[in-house]
Amino acid sequence: MAKLSSEELYHERFPKSRALYERAGGILPRGVTHDAWYMKPFPIYITKASGSRKWDADGYEYVDYIGGHGALLMGHGHSTLLEAVGRQIQTGTHFGACHELQLQWAELIHKLVPGAERVEFTNSGTEANMLAIRLARAFTGRQKIVRFRYHFAGFADHVMVGIAPPWNVPTSSGLLPSDVENTLVIPVNDEAILEQVLSRRDVALLMVEAAGAFSGVIGISPSFYNTMREVTAQYGTLLHFDEIVTGFRYSPGGVQAEKNIKPDLTSLGKILTGGVPGAGAIVGRADIMDMLSFKDDNWNRYKRVAHTGTFNGNPLCAAAGIATLNFISNGGPQRQATHIADLLRERMQQAITERCIEGCVYGDFSVFHVYLGRCEMREQCDRRICLNEDKERPVSLGRLLAINATLNGVHLPNRGYDGIVSAAHTETDVEKTTRAFSACLDTLMEEGVIGR
Ligand SMILES: Cc1ncc(COP(=O)(O)O)c(C=O)c1O
Repeated sequence: MAKLSSEELYHERFPKSRALYERAGGILPRGVTHDAWYMKPFPIYITKASGSRKWDADGYEYVDYIGGHGALLMGHGHSTLLEAVGRQIQTGTHFGACHELQLQWAELIHKLVPGAERVEFTNSGTEANMLAIRLARAFTGRQKIVRFRYHFAGFADHVMVGIAPPWNVPTSSGLLPSDVENTLVIPVNDEAILEQVLSRRDVALLMVEAAGAFSGVIGISPSFYNTMREVTAQYGTLLHFDEIVTGFRYSPGGVQAEKNIKPDLTSLGKILTGGVPGAGAIVGRADIMDMLSFKDDNWNRYKRVAHTGTFNGNPLCAAAGIATLNFISNGGPQRQATHIADLLRERMQQAITERCIEGCVYGDFSVFHVYLGRCEMREQCDRRICLNEDKERPVSLGRLLAINATLNGVHLPNRGYDGIVSAAHTETDVEKTTRAFSACLDTLMEEGVIGR
């Protein structure tokens, strides 16, 4: 019998996941509940998770590199989180009123994140970014926002350009032209263009994914952080860091603590609640955040920035957030996750080099990215921060990487090229992942998808 291709093997290996996906087609419009979980021919269905591992409906075990889309710095089901959430569920999940946990949570964020003079809780990262734009427009009296090419910021209307070319076409339909006509998209790491755009003095906010596009797939040059801080200050534009992934991960104080740059506004999410749904906050300068405060009738009606949200700062998220932030505040979990990511990057790179394939494995702190192709900038590269904006990572190849990783017991995000590491990952996970990655490369070479 002819050997099955990896795609055919995937189709055969997971009958229960396949059946669940067929059932999903009858009730969920896209079969999944997040665009990123869409996967051809079908995604695997997970039944449980613990530490660095997950298990699927067909009984297979995986090393997990999705990590709750970055929320699970401590890994799945950490006892610190479980105890805090368990206690709080007994006490109350929604008081419909103020409670002290909100203050403890906000005070912890203030202590850890340099730019967090004031804290406003939301229910997601997307909501935090929406509020950042509203605050900036209200505070500056300006309309425009500037984003960098490829930077992701959630699914709010104003940020639906800039994620993928062509740059002036939104990545979703259903928007009004006016939703994005005040969103300008420019290349990153180009001081002249940044200065040219901001010097018109009509830009309210410069929005930056703090470690670069998709957590560093295309990085930010170290010197550009100071450039962004200086140029925004010079022209009265507010500087916004989206630290929804990087916050508490790159360091207890995020990228801004590492780079010693204080943005005017910062969006937080994910690790903020340690993996409990409802993670979001916009934090920033006291004078800007003051736009949210109640004053006299005239201010409240005509000047104030309004914000509501049933679950803002709810007791369950607050308890989970306090437990998580206390646990990660000494930097130990971040160092462990980075140590494992360093090993992974090294071993996976070795697998590429040994096979004489063009490509690299790179990334900073506890994330890794794979690029399979030639790179003109290889000689100037430190394998941490990639400044090659032109490299291509085709969707079709990424899908085959994800499929083959799954077949070999490693669960990568469906785009197949990236992974996020937790403090629960171990050197045993590194060994298993390296073997799996090597097997992926061998299969893709055998199938003629990649060459030497
Ligand atoms: C950089 C970045 N910004 C914003 C968001 C949106 O956050 P949420 O999914 O909590 O709305 C995400 C989510 O993945 C993100 O990675």
